[in-house]
Amino acid sequence: MAVTADIVVAGGGVIGTAIAWRAAGAGLDVIVVDPESGDAASQVAAGMLAPVSESLFGEDALLALNLLAVRRFGPFAAELEAATGRDVGLRREGTLAVAYDPGDHAALVRLTAFRRSLGLDAEELDSRECRRLEPFLAPDVRGGFLFAGDWSVDNRRYAGALRQAMQAAGVRTVHDRVTEVRIHGGKVCGVRLAGAGADGPGVGADGAASSADGGIDCATVVIAAGYASGQIAGLPGPLRGVVRPVKGQLLRLRHPTGMPPVLSHTVRAVVRGTDVYLVPRADGEMIVGATSEERGPDRTVTAGAVHDLLRDAMSVLPVTSELALAETCAGLRPGTPDNGPVVGATGIVGLLMATGHYRNGILLSAVTADAAVAFLTGQRPALEWEPFSPRRFMVQAGST
Ligand code: GLY
Repeated sequence: MAVTADIVVAGGGVIGTAIAWRAAGAGLDVIVVDPESGDAASQVAAGMLAPVSESLFGEDALLALNLLAVRRFGPFAAELEAATGRDVGLRREGTLAVAYDPGDHAALVRLTAFRRSLGLDAEELDSRECRRLEPFLAPDVRGGFLFAGDWSVDNRRYAGALRQAMQAAGVRTVHDRVTEVRIHGGKVCGVRLAGAGADGPGVGADGAASSADGGIDCATVVIAAGYASGQIAGLPGPLRGVVRPVKGQLLRLRHPTGMPPVLSHTVRAVVRGTDVYLVPRADGEMIVGATSEERGPDRTVTAGAVHDLLRDAMSVLPVTSELALAETCAGLRPGTPDNGPVVGATGIVGLLMATGHYRNGILLSAVTADAAVAFLTGQRPALEWEPFSPRRFMVQAGST
């Protein structure tokens, strides 16, 4: 007998699980299909909720969305913690952006002037004031800015809580991969799965089983498969090439037992022209990241990246050398041509995209879930989503 659901979500990272949790809460019957291959970008992230210190020249619409996202994140995380009884490690101390040499300082001052011109708050600090906030910073640090509006969350705790909340809300999970969205008469009618042989048993399930042909019948599919979203057959042609993997390598360090925390704020530094960030966790972890590499779906951790990240981290925070190197990892951000997410309707009835979150997947997860549930229940999502419709790529493709 065929398995059926109201909605299939293709992808079980933070975007897919957040959508599934909220959609189930809205009374919908949801199945998440996820290969559980452990390569979700959200497992490798640093968990920065950083609309201010991640904003770049020319990304005004994305900044507006990210600001909405950080305002929404607190209540969403509180609800998640209440639903699961788990602490997701939200920190509100702000981000201290520092510069290493005079060229780095000039670049940081230019970028901060742009951010202030958009109405963002930034408190300028000289070298001594930076070290008053973070006593372990190197005396060479030229100065910096405190961005009080940027927070962080423990991405792995957060992802685990979302998964628990989603399951408690009745979402079924299928351990497989969506290979195709089935469409009939311009409407979604189901999905095909990779089936047996893809990842061990084709469909291992928490409360769900496969149909005889390895598919699921449903009228709505949400594509939330990160960098692999474009590999799913049945998407309109222009959307298949929109998301690409952008490799990020990062390090997880741990304080030795008994050593007090070496940082209280997230620190972002420009070191000889290169960006590095250091994100402290309450449990003694410190994340150092990240590279940004166009190498296709390659997740190799390289000696050079580990060297460069540690060198830059130690330039601004020499005590980094005393921490234990607990883990090195590489993830694949779902990048898009304009760095913005791809969320909304596609022109095929029942096919919704929720992908392409690039550097902001954790930050945007709550507002993406809100937007997806709005689309799924016939409501209007927040206005900030308008520039991020999948149609922007379809219009461009159609007009050339
Ligand atoms: N948001 C941080 C990163 O993508 O590296």
